[in-house]
Amino acid sequence: MKETRIFFGGVDNSELLEFLDGFTDRKIVILSDKKVRENCLDKFSAICQFKTSPIVIEIGQGDSEKTIKSAEYIWSELLKNKVSHNDLFINLGGGMISDLGAFTASVYKRGMPFVNVPTTLLAMVDAAYGGKTALNFGAIKNQIGNYAIPELIFIEHDFLKTLDPIELKCGLAEMIKSSLIADKKLFVELSDLNNGQVPTLGSIKGCLKIKQSIVKQDPYEKGERKALNFGHTFAHALESIRLQSGSSMKHGEAVALGIFYESYISSKKMGFSHLELIKVRDIIYRHYSHLNFEDIDFDRLLELMIYDKKNDLGINFTLLKSIGEYKIDNYIEDQVLKDTLMFCKENFNGQLIANK
Ligand SMILES: NC(=O)c1ccc[n+]([C@@H]2O[C@H](COP(=O)([O-])OP(=O)(O)OC[C@H]3O[C@@H](n4cnc5c(N)ncnc54)[C@H](O)[C@@H]3O)[C@@H](O)[C@H]2O)c1
Repeated sequence: MKETRIFFGGVDNSELLEFLDGFTDRKIVILSDKKVRENCLDKFSAICQFKTSPIVIEIGQGDSEKTIKSAEYIWSELLKNKVSHNDLFINLGGGMISDLGAFTASVYKRGMPFVNVPTTLLAMVDAAYGGKTALNFGAIKNQIGNYAIPELIFIEHDFLKTLDPIELKCGLAEMIKSSLIADKKLFVELSDLNNGQVPTLGSIKGCLKIKQSIVKQDPYEKGERKALNFGHTFAHALESIRLQSGSSMKHGEAVALGIFYESYISSKKMGFSHLELIKVRDIIYRHYSHLNFEDIDFDRLLELMIYDKKNDLGINFTLLKSIGEYKIDNYIEDQVLKDTLMFCKENFNGQLIANK
């Protein structure tokens, strides 16, 4: 897999401008949703100093738009505007836009070059990098997709100024996950963040470094890349439950609960210490106390986790040995999963006993 260049915005955007110079006689298409268009498009256009107006395609907001129907709409707009496979497609938005737009661009006329410009924290630290694209299908998350590498990623920390606090929390969940699997120092730094505080560009770069290092070792998720799924087996199942009930849940929020759920399994199965479990519960509860495990139906959860990754030994999880150290491919029996849900229901809002 070719390595993606990552440029950071700021006073000097010359690397981005130099790249765009290569497309001066080409059409430039920007995909965004309404909110991103209102909050980020002018700022981004000013940075890019476009010589001719780009073609802007706008779709609806939220994960329910990450569908084949939206992809069809985008393809029809590209055809209507006579966009060729040599033109440039820019995904300006969060992970929903980059998942959908990267897929759409990567198969349009057998593939056109695209760039990811993440405008949410979650997309900056996770979704924009790594080559995975996805559409939801049949009310199940991420069932259709491919690997497609952007020409580059452009990160402008300033975009975070207009992000809803809840979206900030969603990105923070992925940052906490990254720190838990690979960087104890970063975990300590994130533990100091107050509720609602915007993480620094330095900590965003730290998370990206972790993802880069793991993806380089295993671009197609045959082994090490599964580390990035810590917290996600639970999260994907929970998101699917919500999607099917018509009340979609934010990916990052599901990941936050998944981090606590899978940290408890780690404490049961991997020797992850009780003290560390308390640290995890504390950071998650500080930022996500508005969530809970109360109304989760275990049988449905299990069914959906099986959909994600099951073999004869049980469901496959990435677990923690300690903060900053993980192990992939742990097969966990159904009874442990059921006990874990009970534990989370009882202890997320309450006090974990420190010396248990
Ligand atoms: N491909 C991957 O590796 C990967 C990894 C993680 C998550 N994902 C996917 O990413 C998606 C979630 O991404 P997300 O959390 O960025 O959600 P999102 O793209 O839906 O954006 C969240 C909301 O924030 C708004 N928004 C975006 N940028 C803004 C800004 N700067 N100011 C104001 N509002 C802004 C959007 O309009 C939207 O309403 C999910 O579909 C998930 O499956 C993909």
